Amino acid sequence: MEAYLLEFANLLLRWLHVIAAIAWIGESVYFVMLDRSLRAPTSEESKKRGVFGEMWAVHGGGFYHNQKYLTNPAELPDDLHWSFWKSYTTWLSGFALFALLYMTKPTFYLANPNSPWEWAASMSGTEANIAAILFLIAGWVVYNELCKRISPNMDRDGILSVAVAIMMVLVAYLSVHIFSGRAAFLITGAVMATSMSANVFFWIIPGQRRMVADLKAGRTPNPLDGKRGTQRSVHNTYFTLPVVLLMLSNHYSFTYNSPYAWIIMTLFIFAGALIRQYFVLLHTGQNKLGYPVAGVLLILVIGWLAAPAQKTAGSDVSAEAAVTLQQVQGIMDARCIQCHAVSPEGYGFTTAPVGMLLDSEDQTLLHAAEVKKVVQNHYMPLGNITQMTEEERELIEAWSGTAD
Ligand code: HEC
Repeated sequence: MEAYLLEFANLLLRWLHVIAAIAWIGESVYFVMLDRSLRAPTSEESKKRGVFGEMWAVHGGGFYHNQKYLTNPAELPDDLHWSFWKSYTTWLSGFALFALLYMTKPTFYLANPNSPWEWAASMSGTEANIAAILFLIAGWVVYNELCKRISPNMDRDGILSVAVAIMMVLVAYLSVHIFSGRAAFLITGAVMATSMSANVFFWIIPGQRRMVADLKAGRTPNPLDGKRGTQRSVHNTYFTLPVVLLMLSNHYSFTYNSPYAWIIMTLFIFAGALIRQYFVLLHTGQNKLGYPVAGVLLILVIGWLAAPAQKTAGSDVSAEAAVTLQQVQGIMDARCIQCHAVSPEGYGFTTAPVGMLLDSEDQTLLHAAEVKKVVQNHYMPLGNITQMTEEERELIEAWSGTAD
C-alpha cells in the first residue's frame, strides 16, 4: 500500500512538474522571441510616447500589437502581468520529486560506490543527501558570483558566458564522480534549473519590483536593474534545452552508464545551447545555420561515444552451450532478488520495485525481454549494488529468453 501511494504521489508530482515546466519554458521562449523580434516603432505617436520596439502578431483569431518600453513608460497600470509562479512551481515540484524518488533511497539512487574518489565512494545515504543539497546550493553560489564579478554592469557578458560554460564542464565532471550516473545527470540539470529559478527569485523579480516602485514614485529607474534582468533571462534561455535533456536522460541508461558520462553530459549542454542560439538569432532575422550544424555534430559525437562496445570474439558466450533458464535464475537469485522478491530482504524495499518479481523461473521467464534489456544496458542492478559480473551479463545476453 505504501509503495502504491508513493507511486501515485510520484505520478501526480511529475504531472505538475512537467506542466509547470512547459508553461514556464513556453513563456520564456515566447518572451525571448518577442524581445528579439522587436522593430523600431513606425508611428510618430509611438515614438513620442518613448516606445523602444514593437511587434505585430496574428494568433488565436486576432491581431496583437506588442510594444516594449525600457524604463520609461509614461504611466503604469495597476494590473501588470508578472511572470514568476510558473518558475517557482517548476522548481518546487521538481525538488519534491527529487526528494521523493532519490533522497528517500539515497544509498543506491544517489551514492556512487564505484567512484574513483575514496571519500565519495564511502558516503553513507545521509551524506549523499547532504552532498546533493550542497551541490545545488554551491552551483548557484558559484554561478551567481561569476555573474557579479565578471560582468556586474552587463558589459562583459561574452566573457561571462565562457566562464559559465567552463563552470558547467566542471559541474558535469564533479557530479559524475560524486554521484551515481543517473543522479549525476539529474543533479547537473538541477544545478542549471536551480540557477534559472534563483535568477528569477533573487534578481529578475526584485529588479522589476524596484523599477515599478521607482516609476510609481516618479523617479527614474536604475537602468542596471533592467539590464540585469535581461542578462539573467538570456542565461535562462540557453539553459532550457540542456536542462530538459538532462531531466529526460534518466530514462536512457546509455547516456549515464557510459565511461564517458561527463563528456557526454558536457556535449549535450553545449549542443542544446548552440541549437537555442540559432533560434535566438533567427528571431532577429539572422539565419546562422552554423550553430545548429555544430550542435548536431556534437550530438553525433555523443552517439559515437555512447555506443555499446563491440564484443571481442573470445568473450562470446553464445558460441558455447546454450544458456539455460536454470542458469539465469541462479544469477537472479544472486544479484536481483534482494529487491525483486515478494518480501525483499535488503536495501530497504518492502515490496518489489515496480512490481517486478524475479524470484522464480516462471516470473523471470515472464519478464525475459525486460531483464535482458536492463542487464545489457547496465541499468540493473541499480548502481551495480549487488556486484553483477560482466560474465553474468554476457550469459543473460546470450540466453534465448525461453525455458529451453
Ligand atoms: C537494489 C535494489 C535492486 C536490485 C538489486 C535490482 N533492482 Fe531492478 N529495480 C529496482 C528498482 C528500484 C526499480 C524501479 C526502477 C527505478 O526506480 O529506476 C527496478 C526496476 C527494474 C526493472 C524494470 C525497469 C523499468 O524500465 O521499469 C527491471 C526489468 C529490473 N529492475 C530488473 C532487475 C534485474 C534483472 C536485476 C538483477 C540483475 C535487478 N533488477 C536488480 C531495484 C533493484
